[in-house]
Amino acid sequence: MADSGVALIRTDTGPVLSVEDLVVEFPVGRHRTVHAVSGVGFDLFAGETLGIVGESGCGKSTAGRAVMQLPRPTSGRVTLNGTDLAELSPSALRKMRAQMTMIMQDPISSLNPRRRVKHLVTEGARIWRVHDEKRLDERARAMLTAVGLDPDAVWNRLPAELSGGQCQRVCIARAMMLEPQLLICDEPVSSLDVSVQAQILNLLEETKNKFALSMIFIAHNMAVVKNISDRVMVMYLGKVCESVPSADMESTVRHPYSQLLLASIPDPERKRGDTGQPPDIEGDLPSPLAPPSGCRFRTRCPLADERCVQEEPPIREIAENHYVACHRV
Ligand SMILES: Nc1ncnc2c1ncn2[C@@H]1O[C@H](COP(=O)(O)OP(=O)(O)OP(=O)(O)O)[C@@H](O)[C@H]1O
Ligand code: SF4
Ligand SMILES: [Mg+2]
Repeated sequence: MADSGVALIRTDTGPVLSVEDLVVEFPVGRHRTVHAVSGVGFDLFAGETLGIVGESGCGKSTAGRAVMQLPRPTSGRVTLNGTDLAELSPSALRKMRAQMTMIMQDPISSLNPRRRVKHLVTEGARIWRVHDEKRLDERARAMLTAVGLDPDAVWNRLPAELSGGQCQRVCIARAMMLEPQLLICDEPVSSLDVSVQAQILNLLEETKNKFALSMIFIAHNMAVVKNISDRVMVMYLGKVCESVPSADMESTVRHPYSQLLLASIPDPERKRGDTGQPPDIEGDLPSPLAPPSGCRFRTRCPLADERCVQEEPPIREIAENHYVACHRV
């Protein structure tokens, strides 16, 4: 198991995906480096959904793309079904990508505007010969129906002739045509209307169950992540703060940042002093060009002390499947 990973659904066959000490750095100018992802690790088991949550800029998308090797990470190890992706040639890696696919944050811009739905949904499967060519259209029509679209109505349409929700359904159908084992969803609903968000989330969950997928679900909204995931991994400034089973999270989370994220979910039932408002996390995310020493959360943490300035808290298991990086836990 990856050093800071956890396994909610342990099986004899081991994890589908194992990520160890993933580091992604971007050089900026001559002497500066963006520390986007700094030593992230986790395991993902068959049929499991891992939610990754954290503020904008904390490295969620970069971590998801690094798993896909888009681009290859600065360092660290990503293993899919026992194969170390770093050891694959570019062509072997492209083939492997049929087994792991990513749904991007912005459904409209992630589709080629000049391709019609029939091409968008079939092209990946055609390239990787996932299905018999003769049956490709039939499969694509069935997949469009499965994601709640009328194939006759959308078959010849361009992305600009679809709504945002319909585009996202096309993205899901296109991803599922590859019959992947691993689906990475990067903020798949954040650009959609609230009413459509719920439909797409339900669709993702149904699709995941139907095809026995493992899923990584990335979002900055803790409420959404908590509901769809078996386990939630909280990231802050490129690092994992906490990884916790989502059931009973309200009573089990221990990291001060996770607690603040959970408390910031608006809840009409919850009483919060005179204002009735949830507390904000004070201050801005520090720059990933110069992360704080010691614990990266210390500049905003209500519990920070001198040790937090000096020493980085190691991530450790405090209960079964529950990992936290904090000196005070
Ligand atoms: N190609 C790049 N070059 C330089 N810096 C980058 C690059 N890609 C991402 N970054 C930086 O890395 C950090 C993490 O970015 P990332 O997009 O992973 O965050 P995120 O958690 O997905 O945020 P959001 O919730 O806004 O999508 C940010 O500071 C971002 O500006
Ligand atoms: S290690 Fe210190 S600064 Fe970091 S979360 Fe814990 S108490 Fe806060
Ligand atoms: Mg992102």
